[in-house]
Amino acid sequence: MFKLSVDDIVSNGNLILGIDLGTNKVAALLGRLDGGKLSLDRVGLAPSQGLRRGEIVDLEKAASSISQAIDGLNARRPKGIATSVDRSVAVPRIPHRAWVGITGDHVRCFNPRADIPISRPGRAVSPRDVEQVMRAAVGSLELPSGHEVVHVIARSFAVDTSGNSSPKSAKDASIEHTPIFCNSIANPVGMAARRLEVQAHVVTASTTSLGHLERCMEEAGLGVEGVVLEPLASADAVLSEAERDLGTVLLDIGAGTTDMAILVDGSVCCTAAVPIGGRHITRDLAVGLEIDVEEAEALKIAKGCALVDMVGANEKVTVNILSAEGPRQIPRRLLAQIIQPRAAEMVSLVKDQMVRSGYFHRLSIGAVLTGGGSQLEGILPLAKQIFGLPVRLGRPSARGPANLKDPRLSTSVGLLLYGSQEQVHSTPVSAWSRAKPNLGTRVLGWWKHLFGP
Ligand SMILES: Nc1ncnc2c1ncn2[C@@H]1O[C@H](COP(=O)(O)OP(=O)(O)OP(=O)(O)O)[C@@H](O)[C@H]1O
Ligand SMILES: [Mg+2]
Repeated sequence: MFKLSVDDIVSNGNLILGIDLGTNKVAALLGRLDGGKLSLDRVGLAPSQGLRRGEIVDLEKAASSISQAIDGLNARRPKGIATSVDRSVAVPRIPHRAWVGITGDHVRCFNPRADIPISRPGRAVSPRDVEQVMRAAVGSLELPSGHEVVHVIARSFAVDTSGNSSPKSAKDASIEHTPIFCNSIANPVGMAARRLEVQAHVVTASTTSLGHLERCMEEAGLGVEGVVLEPLASADAVLSEAERDLGTVLLDIGAGTTDMAILVDGSVCCTAAVPIGGRHITRDLAVGLEIDVEEAEALKIAKGCALVDMVGANEKVTVNILSAEGPRQIPRRLLAQIIQPRAAEMVSLVKDQMVRSGYFHRLSIGAVLTGGGSQLEGILPLAKQIFGLPVRLGRPSARGPANLKDPRLSTSVGLLLYGSQEQVHSTPVSAWSRAKPNLGTRVLGWWKHLFGP
């Protein structure tokens, strides 16, 4: 089991550790930040145990999976992952705190707005005003009981610029002003304004689930540097700036959940998780074909298809039916006939969330699919049919290290990107905030990084 020695508990400034606790695998990624540029140092993978639909259901098993993934950072070659990471160099000291992803049914998202007056002379918006309006946005929410805030994201600001020219007389100064709002401002600091308004996105998570995560990490000998909602991390890794600006929905199709994030005008406006992933498709195949789950998983990856029409009528596959003796040949179409309804159900549930968010009509770019399940043959055209939008595959090399293209690692690369932004301290004001669990005051602490004390 991975344990830290006293020597390891030193500041390890330019190394960042990201841990994605997936339902299928635990991925530990070690990134190196050099001159503001992030490169991948190492990848450690382990089969996941003790997780269901993104949530920890067995602390000890989950902790042991984390330890195995950390141990994997020391292995010469990461099993099952194609990277060109140089393993000949010595293993660096691994940071003792990590950036960790969260997802699951317990996560809730809100889009509050708030405004505050700017009453001091000169009325230039200060960083303190920004912090105050963000706090007001959070304060306007009735948080679900037993929840705490994990992200407070400024989607956009607006400033009321009416009456900015100095009053010519006392009478002038006392006249009621009609508000003139200047909208969609990314950074209002320094602007003259009577009022400051924010449209925010707030993510909350169950304190109990966050506590389980923290305990499980402790058990594996690690602290939590920060928690990041998984679809936000994945979106960070795979979406281009233009995609975020013009309107895109990101789907991370994992084993237990399909996570969604809608990004419009450079910022996130809706996040959700649907409790169906690749594991459900595998189970359907196992039940439908009467084969064991391991064979169903291998068959899905090698021959599965999410669109019946893409499979030739004469194509055959070999299976070992549990109740029959010896291998049997069955039409490959049968696989697609089992897979398509489940894949369509998953994509349709996501579409329902997209429509309910009120942002469906803003998706000018379309959808980007990532996560292991996005590699299923036919899933992109199926999603295109159901959404009626262009769809592409998203790989983490888009914004992360160039040598990592596996869609299963989009979340963990996103976690490294979050960690690196924290270290560089040059995140633009519209970027996503992050916070440690149980440290409510840190939620807004990121503003200090951006604007100074
Ligand atoms: N080539 C492939 N074709 C079809 N499915 C695939 C392929 N590769 C991986 N998968 C599926 O992707 C899923 C695992 O994806 P991923 O590693 O992103 O999940 P996870 O992060 O562990 O789970 P979650 O995000 O739900 O907690 C599995 O269900 C697996 O069967
Ligand atoms: Mg995942």
